[in-house]
Amino acid sequence: MENTLTSRLSAAALTAFGLGADPELRTATRPEFGHFQTNLPLRLAKPLGEPPRALGERLVDALDVADLCLPPVLAGAGFVNLTLRPETLARTVTGYAAHAHLGVDRPSVPQRIVVDYSSPNVAKQMHVGHLRSTVIGDALVRVLEFAGHEVLRRNHVGDWGTPFGMLLEHLDEIGFPAEPDLAALDEAYRAARRRFDEEAGFADRARRRVVDLQGGDAATRVLWERVVTVSAEAFSATYGRLGVRLQPADVVGESHYQDRLQRTVDDLDGLGLLRVSEGALCAFPPGLPPMVLRKSDGGFGYDATDVTALRHRVAVDGADRLVYVVDARQSLHFDQVFALARAAGWLPDAVQAEHVAFGTVLGADGRPFKTRDGGTVPLGVLLDEAEQRAGSRDVGIGAVKYADLSSGLGRDYVFDLGRMVGTDGDTGPYLQYAHARLATLLARAGGVPGPVTVLEHPAELRVAFVLTRFPGVVLEVARTLEPHRLCGYLHDLAVAVSGFYEACPVLRAEEPSRSSRLALCAAARRTLATGLDLLGIAAPDAM
Ligand code: ARG
Repeated sequence: MENTLTSRLSAAALTAFGLGADPELRTATRPEFGHFQTNLPLRLAKPLGEPPRALGERLVDALDVADLCLPPVLAGAGFVNLTLRPETLARTVTGYAAHAHLGVDRPSVPQRIVVDYSSPNVAKQMHVGHLRSTVIGDALVRVLEFAGHEVLRRNHVGDWGTPFGMLLEHLDEIGFPAEPDLAALDEAYRAARRRFDEEAGFADRARRRVVDLQGGDAATRVLWERVVTVSAEAFSATYGRLGVRLQPADVVGESHYQDRLQRTVDDLDGLGLLRVSEGALCAFPPGLPPMVLRKSDGGFGYDATDVTALRHRVAVDGADRLVYVVDARQSLHFDQVFALARAAGWLPDAVQAEHVAFGTVLGADGRPFKTRDGGTVPLGVLLDEAEQRAGSRDVGIGAVKYADLSSGLGRDYVFDLGRMVGTDGDTGPYLQYAHARLATLLARAGGVPGPVTVLEHPAELRVAFVLTRFPGVVLEVARTLEPHRLCGYLHDLAVAVSGFYEACPVLRAEEPSRSSRLALCAAARRTLATGLDLLGIAAPDAM
């Protein structure tokens, strides 16, 4: 709809003023301004040297939207307000309701998009930071797939590197935990770290273990695999509980790229992109801090692994777009990786690479979320509490996810369970409740709703208009990778629906209103359910 109106306005500007112009159509901020607004006359006043209202009149005279809109209104200092005809809204909502993707058209050329998300570290419990990556990444995957793209999920787990030397050496010396779960490994990891710092000789043995692991020493390898397996099972259980789409097959951890790291370094060196600095092989991306590709002891690190993984995702996986859902504190790292990969020709201009950087989860004190003694709070503990407070898994998990997704990406937010599980305000349960209420109403009505035919009351016109915005919002999230826009939209829809209930009877209405309103409710229910599903949130029929 917005696209159609935009091109009609551009055509009118061409006729009226003889120039091509973008009307920059906006959704009106107040109901009395109609549905859409352009300030084109205001913006053209200076360049054309004419009063904005005069330009507005000429624009309106040239504008041909009578088939879609009520007569355009010239308003304020030089705005043109457009209001869609009730028939236009009715027809559009009916069309979307019959469409497999609620009006979201498939792209003519779907992209292959690699989304790197969740990516916890082996032998450590997931914490709220990984919750954000998991929840945001999963919502983006769902939206991108719904928008018609092909998505490859990559769970880039931290399963390699020097810390494993400590842990494996420690486990070899004290024995594998009797009840090997992630908490026990996490504990062993911390004990290993203490020994590394304090116990003479341990650090050297730990370093030798790294060499053994990299060299493929059989006993070390077996131990490593046990650690990885225990961790992977725990991660899978968390994903199942969260209802996220990550599968064991999506785990392509750091270890996966190990035998390609040397080649990465050789090739970068061959391209003249590396210099020796204090025994290490480093890259110097312009305007950014240097990167260590190979350490002076011959080991490779996080930078080399990510550059290698990126190269693989483009060259082998055939990605058109790369998305990394990772804490904002790693922004510099991704700037470096992208810059180096571009310089090496491994990231062609046609391939977009984006770091979806999210802020920190804070405790009630406004500081990063920690336990009283300063440790990180395991994710499982938080989810237990959310489910208990909300009274069910669907509502508890939905509440946590919605709170995470609805706060803008870059922003830090306070983890406040009391607010999250509330059924009032901008919360997950509020949206679930709006959905359940519609489901109940529709079940009572029975039958299959027909088309939306009459729209008269402002409250029902409002619901219809919000419904027509759905495809635009989905595509916008696919483009900007900002799930909070979908949250805001669904909240608008739930508010519109609740205003509609207050103002308009449905089951007791006279025909043809009754059937038309039921159709509107069915379209709203499906849009809420679909939107919540795109966020990874359940939409129960009863609450
Ligand atoms: N394992 C890392 C962490 O927990 C996140 C990895 C993100 N993905 C990546 N390709 N670097 O901080």
